[in-house]
Amino acid sequence: MVSFPPEPFRIKMVEPIRLIDRSAREAALHRAGFNLFGLHAEDVFIDLLTDSGTGAMSQNQWSAMIQGDESYSGARSFFRLEEAIKEIFGFRFFMPTHQGRAAENILSAMLVKPGHYVPSNMHFDTTDANIRARGGAPTNLIIEEAYDPANRHPFKGNMDIQKLRAFIQEIGPANIPFGMITITNNAGGGQPVSMENMRAVADTYHEFGLPFFIDACRFAENAYFIKLREPGYANKSPLEIAQEIFTLADGATMSAKKDAIVNIGGFLAMNDEDLFRRSCNEEILREGFTTYGGLAGRDLEAIAVGLREGLDETYLAYRLGQTAYLAERLMDVDVCIIEPPGGHAVYVDSGHLFPHIPPAEFPGQALAVELYREGGIRSVEIGSVMFAHLDPRTGEMVYPRLEMVRLALPRRVYTQSHMDYVVKIMTSIAARRETVRGYRFTYAPEVLRHFTAQFEPL
Ligand SMILES: Cc1ncc(COP(=O)(O)O)c(C=O)c1O
Repeated sequence: MVSFPPEPFRIKMVEPIRLIDRSAREAALHRAGFNLFGLHAEDVFIDLLTDSGTGAMSQNQWSAMIQGDESYSGARSFFRLEEAIKEIFGFRFFMPTHQGRAAENILSAMLVKPGHYVPSNMHFDTTDANIRARGGAPTNLIIEEAYDPANRHPFKGNMDIQKLRAFIQEIGPANIPFGMITITNNAGGGQPVSMENMRAVADTYHEFGLPFFIDACRFAENAYFIKLREPGYANKSPLEIAQEIFTLADGATMSAKKDAIVNIGGFLAMNDEDLFRRSCNEEILREGFTTYGGLAGRDLEAIAVGLREGLDETYLAYRLGQTAYLAERLMDVDVCIIEPPGGHAVYVDSGHLFPHIPPAEFPGQALAVELYREGGIRSVEIGSVMFAHLDPRTGEMVYPRLEMVRLALPRRVYTQSHMDYVVKIMTSIAARRETVRGYRFTYAPEVLRHFTAQFEPL
């Protein structure tokens, strides 16, 4: 019998959830245009849409919030956050932002010009869109194993160093304003990157004079995977591993809504003083003064505490254990997932579950709709709805290589019996898989279309 470490917390406040009946769920789906982002959250029973900003804060975070200093500039709360960021990330400069995409926007506004390319293992949707919005081309150079759902490579988020080197030589360093890597790789299964790979990536960027920025949303989960899986790290703490990771880079973008276990917030950090100065102006224009960046003082306090809680080893063992539990139970009932499971989510291979639905008819969207219809579970498609796009050179549609549905686990929110319920619902959908049909767009915006697109069943 698979199990995971008991929750290292007890529950002292509860938020009721309810399962509305099947006809109400059907009506809700129609009202939302079959886009689960359009549902009222109250009509969702188990919400696995995202792990972003949906975690439960601790008593220490809530009590720190009471001490928030709401001064416009130079607030005490900013310096508390600075202390935590200096200790963990070590960069010379940082600015709070309202979330991760704001940090990506500032970085892209400063550095990306039309015709530029920005390589990474895989950019997530907002990073991808922020680079495109400035006329740049985000480029994914992940190892080939990442595209094989059954391959159990321990670090499937690794970048292909040979591809990276060849890419820089082909494009020319002058057309690459900076290089990135996403830890863990959200767009590709929440898979970690090894320290060895990050060092090779850093060396390659630096050899060509390119600054290296880490998309650090899930740095603590990545650090714990390194501890569990990479030789030489078993006796290091997640904090020590995180510190080592960030010595390799020149900066980071961070959505604190993930591994800092807060409901809102993020930051942009860097070592380059000139870039920081220029970024401050953009920050003041778009986000707010540089010591609060679109957040309240109390939010800064919660991030400062959460960054350290997110690195707690007992918490991380439970966290990765819960994800692995859901993954293993789904595999027990022959539902294919991206193996091995990542840190924050289980990615179901919907292309495999519904071989009769082609990418152009969105097998992932079909599964996401079915999970809600059958059991009030909300998930998100990570496949052709999110990533298919027209190739401007050929005028043809380019489809992603995997059609997935992500079941993201909010931090410290759901219990083992919630996971068992998800497995039960997935089992009953799999049993009638051939009855499920695809979808087509009735409306699709140009960028980030998964958030607001509307569909109809085929
Ligand atoms: C890897 C990655 N980068 C960036 C972001 C953007 O962060 P935010 O939602 O805070 O803007 C996300 C959010 O899901 C993410 O997973």
